[in-house]
Amino acid sequence: MSTSLGFRVSRGVLSTIAPPIPLAYEWASRYKPSEKRPLLDMSQGVPGVPPPDSVQSALGKAASSPTSFGYTRWDGEPDLRQALVGQMKLVYGSNSDINADDVALTSGCNLAFVATTMSVADAGDEIILPVPWYFNHQMTLTLLGIKTIPLTTRPEDGFTPSVDRCRELITKNTKAIVLVTPNNPTGATYSPTLISEFAALAAEFRVALIVDETYRDFIVTGSPPHTVFSNANSLAWRSTFIHLFSFSKAYCLPGHRLGAIVASPILLRSIKSILDTLQICAPRPIQMALAPLLPELRSFITTTAKQVHARHQLFKSRLPEKWHIGAQGGYYAYVKHPFLYVKATDVSRRLAEQVGVVTLPSSFFLEEKESGDKGDQDRERNDEDWKNVEADVKVEEVDRWIRFSVANIDDHKVVKVCERLGQCGDAFGWKQEDDSAN
Ligand SMILES: Cc1ncc(COP(=O)(O)O)c(C=O)c1O
Repeated sequence: MSTSLGFRVSRGVLSTIAPPIPLAYEWASRYKPSEKRPLLDMSQGVPGVPPPDSVQSALGKAASSPTSFGYTRWDGEPDLRQALVGQMKLVYGSNSDINADDVALTSGCNLAFVATTMSVADAGDEIILPVPWYFNHQMTLTLLGIKTIPLTTRPEDGFTPSVDRCRELITKNTKAIVLVTPNNPTGATYSPTLISEFAALAAEFRVALIVDETYRDFIVTGSPPHTVFSNANSLAWRSTFIHLFSFSKAYCLPGHRLGAIVASPILLRSIKSILDTLQICAPRPIQMALAPLLPELRSFITTTAKQVHARHQLFKSRLPEKWHIGAQGGYYAYVKHPFLYVKATDVSRRLAEQVGVVTLPSSFFLEEKESGDKGDQDRERNDEDWKNVEADVKVEEVDRWIRFSVANIDDHKVVKVCERLGQCGDAFGWKQEDDSAN
């Protein structure tokens, strides 16, 4: 069977990286799990538990209701939009100026990002993205022919972006600044002050500020993630600010594809055409099921958030001392591995293949440096190969970070992961941070 194409695929696709997570699972598939040493997956950010029974049974009923088989409005079921506004007032404060007219429901937050960027920028325009980035954001911009302008974040700043450095990157072609807080991949949670400063910067230069708050419900401080929505705020948020949300993580529903854009109704009028072509409407049964349940699910969400927070503390307390946490919060911890001469891609790969701990290396969240050459990815490495991945010179710090999705697994497994990291320190035979041999 010939599988070749008689035409060429688009330049956008050709210049976009392949989704990186399947590579981590390819590594994991080479691990030989046993009852005593199962595979421990801390790679893709996936809720470790299903949603509460009430959601499961409401979804069953909604899915078999004749109404749910039809399309719904382009911006979603009015009851769920209203219910989401109610939840946002709990999160951002009762004085938040948000209405159901500001909300459009989407088939997941990734689609919300695609639709939003399509509505604010054209091919050739620029959008500023803090690095390390959520790879799907950068992939979206590349696919659309929008130039990604990297805004480097530094470990010494806890991976929070600098407003001043961002200001220097703004040109006449800049159409938006994107923030993700709590962040994927680093877990860094930006302060309300920093978010206000970015909102002011965006307003000053008349560009959009797109803030993906997929992980906002995992903030356990008890105070609002930011005050941009507050009606006491002098900034008219609708002129600049675009909030993106996902039901995947907090409501444990990634397979049911539900997200939201909260923005000025004027912008939503433009986004309407985009959503109509991309999705017509977001999946209807899950919207019908969730609408009446949202208020009562708040306690499930806050309990889960506290559990994930406690798991972060456990992870921090059990992590071997040569592994350093750069930032943690929301779903993720961003950790510097101790092997001075080995890139995180090789460390992650070895952890998956030999230790049964699946993680994602920093290279997945940075501009691709190497060509598309997959090297020896499709075969198992032997001891000699593993020895040879050690470079002669120290690898750059930026290439030593590994993302652990702390929310995926239970406390017991977090402890097991840390034990295995401790064992691999010497077992790998690579020079470590404070070996006297350095
Ligand atoms: C920052 C961020 N935005 C969006 C998504 C995807 O959300 P959804 O499942 O709603 O498309 C993820 C998933 O990992 C994410 O980390």
